[in-house]
Amino acid sequence: MSNYHIKHLEEYWQVYRKSVRNPEDFWEEIAEEHFLWRKKWDKVLTWDFKKPEVKWFEGAKLNITENCLDRHLATRADKTAILFEPNDPGEKAQHITYKELHARVSQFANMLKDQGIQQGDRVCIYLPMIPELAISILACARIGAVHSVVFAGFSATALASRINDCDCKMIICSDGSYRGTKTIDLKNIVDEALDNCAGIKKNLVVKRTGNQVNMRKDRDYWVEDLLANAATTCPATIVDAEDPLFILYTSGSTGKPKGMVHTTGGYMVYTAYSFKNVFQYKENDVYWCTADIGWITGHSYIVYGPLANGATTVMFEGVPSYPDYGRFWEIVEKYKVTQFYTAPTAIRALAKEHLDFVEKHDLSSLKVLGTVGEPINEEAWHWYNDHVGKKNNPIVDTWWQTETGGIMISPIPYSTPTIPTFATLPLPGIQPALMDEHGQEIKGNQVEGRLTIKFPWPSMARTIYGNHERYRDTYFSAYDNMYFTGDGARRDAVGYYRITGRVDDVIIVSGHNLGTAPIEDAINEHPAVAESAIVGFPHDIKGNALYGYITLKETGESRRQDNLRKEINQLITDRIGPIAKLDKIQFTNGLPKTRSGKIMRRILRKIASNDTGNMGDTSTLLNPEVVQEIMDNALV
Ligand code: PRX
Repeated sequence: MSNYHIKHLEEYWQVYRKSVRNPEDFWEEIAEEHFLWRKKWDKVLTWDFKKPEVKWFEGAKLNITENCLDRHLATRADKTAILFEPNDPGEKAQHITYKELHARVSQFANMLKDQGIQQGDRVCIYLPMIPELAISILACARIGAVHSVVFAGFSATALASRINDCDCKMIICSDGSYRGTKTIDLKNIVDEALDNCAGIKKNLVVKRTGNQVNMRKDRDYWVEDLLANAATTCPATIVDAEDPLFILYTSGSTGKPKGMVHTTGGYMVYTAYSFKNVFQYKENDVYWCTADIGWITGHSYIVYGPLANGATTVMFEGVPSYPDYGRFWEIVEKYKVTQFYTAPTAIRALAKEHLDFVEKHDLSSLKVLGTVGEPINEEAWHWYNDHVGKKNNPIVDTWWQTETGGIMISPIPYSTPTIPTFATLPLPGIQPALMDEHGQEIKGNQVEGRLTIKFPWPSMARTIYGNHERYRDTYFSAYDNMYFTGDGARRDAVGYYRITGRVDDVIIVSGHNLGTAPIEDAINEHPAVAESAIVGFPHDIKGNALYGYITLKETGESRRQDNLRKEINQLITDRIGPIAKLDKIQFTNGLPKTRSGKIMRRILRKIASNDTGNMGDTSTLLNPEVVQEIMDNALV
């Protein structure tokens, strides 16, 4: 990889051109350097987007944890791998060295084997941001088991559906979790979920909060008890490059969440390569990504990418507002963080608070700032640049997705000149294209269209667990021979990309991907509800918030509207989680529909955004009269 630690723009273009001219040689060269393969590949790439089928480094054999752990023992045994900062600043931090992490992962892996986990088994992990989360992920990978991490803010119903979708046979959870001043009873949520998960044979519980929990006999076990008998060396199970490493669920515009399947060799190569280049990580740097490992950002850029590079990666259990709004900056100062990677929604929330919170801390260690998950607005970008970066640190606005596995479009710090709100240029090896509504590629600059990728890259998801057809329909059917991202983008005069947002019914709220369909399904379960439609509207902290238009079965019901609003949001919290709650609920007498019965969300979006100047053509509606009524009663 040393060849591709890009240092200036000219070098970027040289490497980029090479990567497009001969992608297979490009990736082969990267894969050959630094990684530990137990057997080299027979073929770099096999692909056919029509099927679709993508295989990288076929025939190669490896274990990703040997690359993230064992490989560093000779030179970095005593270097901190994970720097764990607890929720409460009074609690002692943990500096886990590579040697210790190797031992703890091995021990955990032996324990999983003792508990009956074998190569290929799916293990659900539902843990807060504590070291055991990273350790259990790596322990699964150590023995070739497939981890399926579910963000510990999801409800029991959401957890159960993810467990059942991929037939997990074990879950790893904790007694509880800390978030700021709150303690959350995670174990109770798991107990409720497991009532509906017949496939789960064992529930391993990590002790974190000391909450009183009920341990069900022959199902629930304390991790610390089981670990007591496990050895701290564990041979790595050697897997094929294309064996699955993990499943991670993401929302779709329709139907249930999609279990994106990532495989081992390509994912390792790409996350390591992108981490190194996008963050320009150097040996003694302290890198911090504030995401939760329950999302792809945490998988790729807290765990695998940093550890594959022998980096020190900070893991923070808490929230940016506890004990006060200076917590992020206090941590940056305390550990002399060099790379700081966060979400625009966090920046917007912190920018609302007094500047003292940031200014009283010494942030001079910082070299690179990053954002991910949603478009960053100009105001937030400038606040980040002025007050955190002191106009001295490049900001990498990184565009990518759960499905892409790694960062796709991003500036390379100190090489690519940045412009606020632009993710700028594709990483070498990534070939984006913009498409028009007729399925033609839009060439040239100063154009706008739908963002697609024309050529495979190593960390792309290979399928949706148990539903390859949906994988094809969602990503490969919109445009011939292209991966369709679901996003729109503009390409400016110099070829920089600016992501304009989703073009489907996925709404990004505080950087979280939410499909409208599951939320509508939850609402429609309420006995008083006839029909509902959810749209996003601009929100100054969350980026987007949710606006629900709901038709009731009996208009008389409208008398108890406030209670209904509460009940509906409670249903959403129970079915999905609090992140999917609606900010606004408008009860209507009908929803605007086409003659074929499809809800015209375009109109509802405009009303929710208070942008009713040009409503477009409403004459094709089945019930045009309802539009005026909705406008008159809009909550804007
Ligand atoms: O719409 C894009 C937005 O987030 C979507 C992917 O969400 P998810 O799979 O949850 O992954 C988030 C973390 C990688 C994309 O389709 N998105 C992500 N990054 C950016 C972005 N939109 C604009 N700018 C970004 N930098």
